[in-house]
Amino acid sequence: MCGRWPALSEANLEFCRPAADNPRMKKLFIKTYGCQMNAYDSARMADLLAPLGYAPVEKQEGADMVILNTCHIREKAAEKVYSELGRLAVLKREKPGMLVAVAGCVAQAEGEEMVRRQGAVDMVVGPQSYHRLPEMIARHARDAGHVLETDFPALEKFDALPQASSESGVSAFLTVQEGCDKFCTFCVVPYTRGPEHSRSPESILAEARNLVSRGAREIVLLGQNVNAYRGVDSHGKDWNLARLIDALAQIHDVYRIRYTTSHPRDMDDDLIAAHGNIEKLMPFLHLPVQSGSDSVLAAMNRQHTADDYLRLIGRLRAARPDIAFSSDFIAGFPGESDADFEATMALVRSVKFSQCFSFKYSPRPGTPAAGAKKLVAESVKTSRLLALQALLLEQQDEANKASIGQTMDVLFEKAGRENGQLVGRSPWLQPVHVQAGTSRIGTIGAVKIAALTANSLHGALAQTASA
Ligand code: SAH
Ligand code: SF4
Ligand code: F3S
Repeated sequence: MCGRWPALSEANLEFCRPAADNPRMKKLFIKTYGCQMNAYDSARMADLLAPLGYAPVEKQEGADMVILNTCHIREKAAEKVYSELGRLAVLKREKPGMLVAVAGCVAQAEGEEMVRRQGAVDMVVGPQSYHRLPEMIARHARDAGHVLETDFPALEKFDALPQASSESGVSAFLTVQEGCDKFCTFCVVPYTRGPEHSRSPESILAEARNLVSRGAREIVLLGQNVNAYRGVDSHGKDWNLARLIDALAQIHDVYRIRYTTSHPRDMDDDLIAAHGNIEKLMPFLHLPVQSGSDSVLAAMNRQHTADDYLRLIGRLRAARPDIAFSSDFIAGFPGESDADFEATMALVRSVKFSQCFSFKYSPRPGTPAAGAKKLVAESVKTSRLLALQALLLEQQDEANKASIGQTMDVLFEKAGRENGQLVGRSPWLQPVHVQAGTSRIGTIGAVKIAALTANSLHGALAQTASA
């Protein structure tokens, strides 16, 4: 629903520029589903395949290679992949040499079954193995059989990936941590992404410098559980996320830093303090809570209570009074009573979120909750989700309306749909539209907000750009 990062819906990738008009270039089409980490992985796959002559295109028709980078988080997300594969099988009959690869979390979870179910699939590659794609393409060319790679060699992947070699967007994703050891009872991520693993601070800082040299001005640090980041540097010293953010803030042309997604249990004192001390760290935090009921939170194995969450919000607000929050919610988890759901609504009323994602519970094969007996009826799930979304939308509207008349710093990211218009982001991640020239892309300007349409703010430049 609302929110900027298309966390769990299809993400259309900005790096998909048309292939150069070079007949020797092979056309690569990547379709990305799921979270920001998949968007990051898709961009890295494009970098990895560029030396083999593959250039991104925007249509799958006529492509030499199609990669579906998939998401397994809910049933609907996974099923989309099979319908897409059906369409690709038809295209492949017209162009038999076309390579079809399935990457991401469905590949990891159901790779072998996928090859059995859909003969059009040439390659299956898990999220920890995609650095092996060039070698897999070569293997496929040699013996034309299906190639499957779904190990978890997390330690080698980042070393094997090349640095980005194309232009970066103004806001760039940078994966610093992968995997999850939390095992929430509803969630597939620990099984599809494997155990928690943090990259070394040196390799992250080098990647950030490279992104900045290619035009990035905002770095969004990514991890399935990004605040569990524990990197070890070349002197054997441990770094937590706060220290990493502090080091990134020293890079002159990094204007803004964000991180996502965090688990409430991993918000340590240093990170809370960083929100007060590091000016480049933006006053916006996505902090999923899932439910406001302690018994549901316990059944989900979230390892915190509703009150723990509220106290955490209080400490973050004390460190950075203007901080805005977003969250994820699941409606209709097994055993959720009317009173449990009311507790979620009460938590939402008490926090006041500025944006949110909310979902109906979807049982996932292999997760502990999938075997639960006390299921919530589909119609009840739907009515709870609608009530929750109405409240969240009201809060989002309130936050946006409160921006009218304010002057805020906006980082301009790209041209808008209308002529002469730029789109940027406020510190609180709201999209802001202004009339201004494209030379301001990549700079920060003070904008006086005048109006609100749907989810976007509209305003005018208040003074010359400050960066
Ligand atoms: N690591 C993050 C979230 C990863 S998944 C965290 O701990 O918060 C993103 C969101 O998808 C979750 O926060 C949850 O709200 C939702 N989700 C995950 N599994 C789900 C399921 N089985 N059914 C419905 N929503 C689910
Ligand atoms: Fe899934 Fe929980 Fe891990 Fe988030 S913390 S990825 S919801 S298991
Ligand atoms: Fe989906 Fe995998 Fe991300 S299941 S949400 S693509 S970690």
